[in-house]
Amino acid sequence: MNRIVTLDEFIIRRQIDFPYASGELTSLLRDLGVAAKIVNREVNKAGLVNILGVADSQNVTGDQVQKLDLYANEKFIDCLKNSGECCGIASEENEDFIPLPGVESKTGKYVVVFDPLDGSSNIDVNVSVGTIFGIYRRTSEQDDACNVNDFLQRGTELVAAGYVLYGTSTLLVYTTGRGVNGFTLDPSIGEFCLSHQNIQIPDRGNYYSVNQGYYLKFDVEMRRYIDHCSDMNLRLRYIGSMVSDIHRILFQGGIFLYPNTRKYPHGKLRLVYECNPLAYIVEQAGGKAITCQLQRILELPVEHLHQRATVAIGSPDMVEEMKAFVERYSAAPTFP
Ligand code: AHG
Ligand code: MN
Ligand code: MN
Repeated sequence: MNRIVTLDEFIIRRQIDFPYASGELTSLLRDLGVAAKIVNREVNKAGLVNILGVADSQNVTGDQVQKLDLYANEKFIDCLKNSGECCGIASEENEDFIPLPGVESKTGKYVVVFDPLDGSSNIDVNVSVGTIFGIYRRTSEQDDACNVNDFLQRGTELVAAGYVLYGTSTLLVYTTGRGVNGFTLDPSIGEFCLSHQNIQIPDRGNYYSVNQGYYLKFDVEMRRYIDHCSDMNLRLRYIGSMVSDIHRILFQGGIFLYPNTRKYPHGKLRLVYECNPLAYIVEQAGGKAITCQLQRILELPVEHLHQRATVAIGSPDMVEEMKAFVERYSAAPTFP
């Protein structure tokens, strides 16, 4: 039998890889691992809600049943309070950032951004969902309360990012800027175990992932590129959970697109807690991540917490090909 390496053990072993190797980031990543396990337990039970006699959003004990997004949000916040390493969070579920208290007179050096449940409309039909997170070193003074600028850093400043995929098995994938590693939850021992070391995205792949239902709402250059994907007999896969769709692309190669539409002129996905963390992971795995207007996602200026961005993320050769289509067919000026 191969030796089992748990997430906790791996994080401690790799602590040395981190430029500020003081153990603080290590504790923070462990807090996130604990939250992922708690959310996983609840996601797995989601199908039982009806069987357990929940009616009108009330559970059997008369408590109001919470939406799973909000439950996940609460659990991540609770767990991030554990070690005291995180001085504030920004989440898809909260309009403003939330400062977190220190532990034993220590205030944290990091802020965490996250989407607690991504693709949550999939829950009701038993299809994969995920969690996305990113970690920044705060820019404000450590003795002060955190402020919004701590969260408005460009993606290039991320010190770590990851996602959890609650799928046929539950997987946690993360990077601290030295490669990407994946851990599968073994439910029998309740541990994430190293299952995918140094993940590398293929240069090309057979998949493209886009909501093709919006085809007529896309700009002409994007339509031409999607036509090209179809001409090349690429397989279209679209789950409607960015984590799940990008997970497939990361492992099997391909391209994930969410372009601007008439309804979402700046794209739908959120830069801070969806696009940047996933862009960082894919780049770390050797892929590329740009907007449909050809700017590198990680370099985009961040003006507000819930800012949106268009995305083209995936295998390097395919993102380059998409770029060539945009340059060729776009009437609008492009960015280098
Ligand atoms: P969330 O559930 O966190 O709101 O995110 C849903 C997002 C993303 O995961 C997915 O890729 C996209 O919305 C799907 O949007 P469309 O239904 O417009 O394709
Ligand atoms: Mn989301
Ligand atoms: Mn969400």
